[in-house]
Amino acid sequence: MQLPHTADAIQAAPGITVRQVAPSFAAEVAGVPIHGDVGEAQLDTLVDLLHRFRVLIVPEIAVTPGDLVAFSRRLGPLEIHSNIENTLRDHREVFCVGNVQRDGMKASFSTGVEQWHADSSFREVPSDVSLFYGEIVPPEGAQTMFADATAAYDALDDATKARIDGLRAVHSLETLHEWSLPFNPGRAPFSAEKRAMWPPISQDLVRTHPVTGAKSLYLCPSVISHIEGMDRAASQVLIAELMAHTDAPRFVYSHAWRRGDLVIWDNRAVLHTASLFDASRYQRLMYRTTVEGNSVGARAA
Ligand code: OGA
Ligand code: MN
Repeated sequence: MQLPHTADAIQAAPGITVRQVAPSFAAEVAGVPIHGDVGEAQLDTLVDLLHRFRVLIVPEIAVTPGDLVAFSRRLGPLEIHSNIENTLRDHREVFCVGNVQRDGMKASFSTGVEQWHADSSFREVPSDVSLFYGEIVPPEGAQTMFADATAAYDALDDATKARIDGLRAVHSLETLHEWSLPFNPGRAPFSAEKRAMWPPISQDLVRTHPVTGAKSLYLCPSVISHIEGMDRAASQVLIAELMAHTDAPRFVYSHAWRRGDLVIWDNRAVLHTASLFDASRYQRLMYRTTVEGNSVGARAA
C-alpha cells in the first residue's frame, strides 16, 4: 500500500480506514474498536497495517487499563517492567510514564535523557511491539517522535550498507544507567544484582524484520556501549553518523497527543523518543504495554 501522506483516508477492510500521516510511514486508523471484542479478521488487518506502516495511531478512544491489557495480549504475551513501582497495581503489564503518582504507582519520569531507542533492546529477545495510551496529556510539549529506521536504512548509499551490514552492537541497561546519571544525580548505583540480571546483549546493527524482510537501523545511542570489534570512540562516531541520517525530518513523525490517543509501534522497524514538557505546570500519564519478542511475527507466520 503506497500512499502519499496527503492522501485521504482509504478503506483497508470493511469498516476500517487508514490515512498515512508522514512521507514514508505512520498511519491513522479508524474503525477498530480497541475496547470491544476485536474479531480475528479485524486483528489480522490491524497487524497487517502495522507491518506496512510501522506506526499506527488510533485517535481519541476511551479505554481502561484492563481493556488495553486485554487487547495488547491479542498480539502476544506482555512484558512486565523491571521497575514494579512504575506499573499499575491491578495491571502489572501496564508501565506508567509521566509525572503522576497515585494508588501506589509512581509513573516513570525522566527529563533531559530523551534519546532515540526501540523498547527493551537490552533484553536478549527485545520487544516486538509497544502500545502507548494517553491517559492524561499536557496541552503542549510531550510529543512522542518516531523515526522510520526502515526507510532510513533503504536510503543509505551502497558503500555505507556494505560497511555496516553484519555489525553487532552491544546493548546494556548499565550503559543506559550511566548515561542517565548526570540527569538523575540521586540515583542508586547499578547493583551487582541488576548487572547479573541484565548482562550486555549484542544485537544486529542492521536488523531484518521477521515478517516483512525489511532491513532497518537498530540505533539506541544511550543503550549501546560499543560495536563489537570497534573501540567505544569509533563506535560512538558511527552510531552518531547513522543517527543523524535517521532523525532527518523526512524520516520523522512527531505525535502531538490528544487525550485517549493510542499509538502502536513496531519496535523491529522504527525508533522513538520523547520530547520535553513543563512538568511544573502540567500532568502527564501514559500507559504502555509491551509485547514480548517473537510473538507478532510468530502469530503472522
Ligand atoms: C516509552 C517511551 C516516549 C514518551 O514509554 O517507551 O519511549 O513520549 N515513551 O514518553
Ligand atoms: Mn520507549
